[in-house]
Amino acid sequence: MKTALVTGSTGFIGSHLVNGLLVAGWQVHVVIRKPLSRSLWDQSRVQVHHHDGSTESLVSMMREARPDVVFHLASLFLSSHRVEDVVPLMQSNVQFSAQLIEAMHQANCDRLVDTGTSWQHYQGMAYSPVNLYAATKQAFGAILQYYVEACGLRAITLELFDTYGSGDTRRKLIHLLEDAARTQQTLPMSPGEQKIDLVHVDDVVRAYLVAAERLLADQVRGHECYAVSSGRPVRLKELVAILEHVRGVTVPVQWGGRDYREREVMEPWRGGKPLPGWSPQIGLESGLGGDACCS
Ligand SMILES: NC(=O)c1ccc[n+]([C@@H]2O[C@H](COP(=O)([O-])OP(=O)(O)OC[C@H]3O[C@@H](n4cnc5c(N)ncnc54)[C@H](OP(=O)(O)O)[C@@H]3O)[C@@H](O)[C@H]2O)c1
Repeated sequence: MKTALVTGSTGFIGSHLVNGLLVAGWQVHVVIRKPLSRSLWDQSRVQVHHHDGSTESLVSMMREARPDVVFHLASLFLSSHRVEDVVPLMQSNVQFSAQLIEAMHQANCDRLVDTGTSWQHYQGMAYSPVNLYAATKQAFGAILQYYVEACGLRAITLELFDTYGSGDTRRKLIHLLEDAARTQQTLPMSPGEQKIDLVHVDDVVRAYLVAAERLLADQVRGHECYAVSSGRPVRLKELVAILEHVRGVTVPVQWGGRDYREREVMEPWRGGKPLPGWSPQIGLESGLGGDACCS
């Protein structure tokens, strides 16, 4: 049986990944930092490790779990930051991540699937961060390079775009649209010409599993990066029309009711390499249809 250690297992994608790993027959360990407030996966089948903040505790749990693959999804996401957000952003996205790979090194665990963001590529650049969150992802990438070159770590970074699917409690776009459809309260939005690249969470989970198999098959020598894209970005206005169509609802949007965000991504990054052996299977129409996909 293959063993996984997952960070970010209480989050939207991480909770789906834990369930996907269990279904695929993996033994799963998770690292959490606070008591679980709700049931996200079958706790009787998952080994839960509490992180006390120290690197030493991560080393101990890594030695105990001895994972074949570490799946690193823990992150603090903020589309824009305030003064008080700088330290938590660094703690979650740089410090904790560095502690994790140091622990891997100490415990001789050498396969990592890490998580980046398309927002590291504003206006299609090789590197141009949309925001400080994206910059912290890049900063960790620079640290990761040291462990790959000097310590023999093998890593795949999956650069994700926007995601959606069941169990998404984040107050993001699809939720806002669903709320507006339900309450019929007008939702002020930007002019809506920006494109969005939405990937269903089940497809995202498959990408992690494919990446893990690639590492286990010894097909990765150093650090590889892949884009997990739908390949079919849609304009925000088109997305609302699709949602209205598949759900049979009206979403009262006031287009132009607010400005575009600073450094709004009008055209998603297209420069990423596709992950070998993976392509999205769930189109927007079927992914958004069905029962309350995002509640
Ligand atoms: N969802 C997307 O559309 C999207 C797009 C691009 C990239 N990504 C990346 O994909 C990954 C998963 O995203 P998500 O949407 O599932 O995230 P999420 O729902 O916001 O969950 C974040 C997870 O990270 C954990 N975490 C945050 N800071 C931590 C720390 N300092 N120590 C330990 N755990 C910490 C949280 O644990 P607590 O429960 O303790 O808070 C939670 O489990 C992230 O790396 C994110 O940057 C996501």
